Amino acid sequence: MQINNVYLGDCLIKLKKVEDKSIDLIYLDPPFFTGKAQIQKTRDNSKEYLFDDKWEDLDQYLNFLKTRIIECKRTLKDTGSIFLHCDKNASHYIRVLLDEVFGPENFVNEIIWTYKRWSNAKKGLLNAHQNIFFYSKTKKYQFFTQFTDYSPTTNIDQILQARERNEHNKTVYKKDANGEVVTGKEKVGVPLSDVWDIPYLNPKAEERVGYPTQKPVILLERIITLVTNEGDVVLDPFCGSGTTLVAASINKRQYIGIDISEEATQLSKKRIKEAKITKSHRLEKGLDSYLNKEDYVREILSQLDAVIVERNKGIDGFLKKHIDGKPVAIYVQRKNQSLADAITLIRKATHSKGVGKKILIRTNDVAVLFDEDTSDKDDLLIIESLDFQVFEKFTRPLV
Ligand SMILES: C[S@@+](CC[C@H](N)C(=O)[O-])C[C@H]1O[C@@H](n2cnc3c(N)ncnc32)[C@H](O)[C@@H]1O
Repeated sequence: MQINNVYLGDCLIKLKKVEDKSIDLIYLDPPFFTGKAQIQKTRDNSKEYLFDDKWEDLDQYLNFLKTRIIECKRTLKDTGSIFLHCDKNASHYIRVLLDEVFGPENFVNEIIWTYKRWSNAKKGLLNAHQNIFFYSKTKKYQFFTQFTDYSPTTNIDQILQARERNEHNKTVYKKDANGEVVTGKEKVGVPLSDVWDIPYLNPKAEERVGYPTQKPVILLERIITLVTNEGDVVLDPFCGSGTTLVAASINKRQYIGIDISEEATQLSKKRIKEAKITKSHRLEKGLDSYLNKEDYVREILSQLDAVIVERNKGIDGFLKKHIDGKPVAIYVQRKNQSLADAITLIRKATHSKGVGKKILIRTNDVAVLFDEDTSDKDDLLIIESLDFQVFEKFTRPLV
């Protein structure tokens, strides 16, 4: 079967044409056992897409899935993984099914994809998640750990200081013989958890093509980059509007898509060509409003590939690499903040924290009455941001 193609037909039949052990990742988002026809219109209402999710009974549905999951397993490389997307309707049965086919020892995670929903009037809790089961073919599966920023509630000492267990087996911050704090290992952020807060595609999102149950590209990008390398092959046997294939091609992976609906395969091919994504505004800005850094501060920190920390007055982040065995703190001067104030803040925030060098990013020249002594005496390096160099200095009128 040719790679980088979308095939029309029942995936059970098409999968049989895929070579044994040739696929690195299978993501499948089959009908969810909702008992309804899934219908949706395009954003301009010009077209309606539909696929059927009606079954005689649960046995028929599970049997449908099982035969196809067995074929999927055969096509996976020993280093490969499968991600099966479902929801509350059948997730509990599907997990048992996957245990049967892949073996419980190859269960890796149950990912909870959570998103904000508008309330509805129904009795019971608002349903705001779907489930993605992650199984590997063998224990040799490929996996690339991803890291996220520290949560706003993380105490700076937790990031900086080494910890140990005391005589009561309690975790405490480590101190050396002189009672000084001991610096911990280099940190790159918090390893990604199994709960993913990724916004649902809103009805006006540019990415939305009007296909029922269309998933966000960003969700698939995360899965793809967790378990595949560039050039690896990603297969989606229920590809629908082609979200997985778009995410694969954007990330330089090869892909195979299959769907029983001709409209779906045509739409997938069109989307792969256009490869449009709307990065969620909410996701780019940080997930919660209490993440309080302004955009320009985040931009500067990301240029430095810094680990961002929240809620610490005077420290915005750290370099991922230690220098001279110590963490390097970064602070970005705020608009309307004088350089002297910024220096005072970073010095205060880093005092007795086991921090080594400090970097202050200068972003403006707000006037001050007295010049601060900015010499390098306590390992403070002041660097001018690009914006400051170009716009403020270059365009400042000569006096
Ligand atoms: C939940 S949708 C997939 C949505 C997709 N993940 C997206 O983001 O657009 C399920 C898809 O499975 C397809 N389908 C149903 N039975 C199938 C079968 N036996 N073989 C292949 N595709 C099938 C439907 O046509 C539908 O497009």
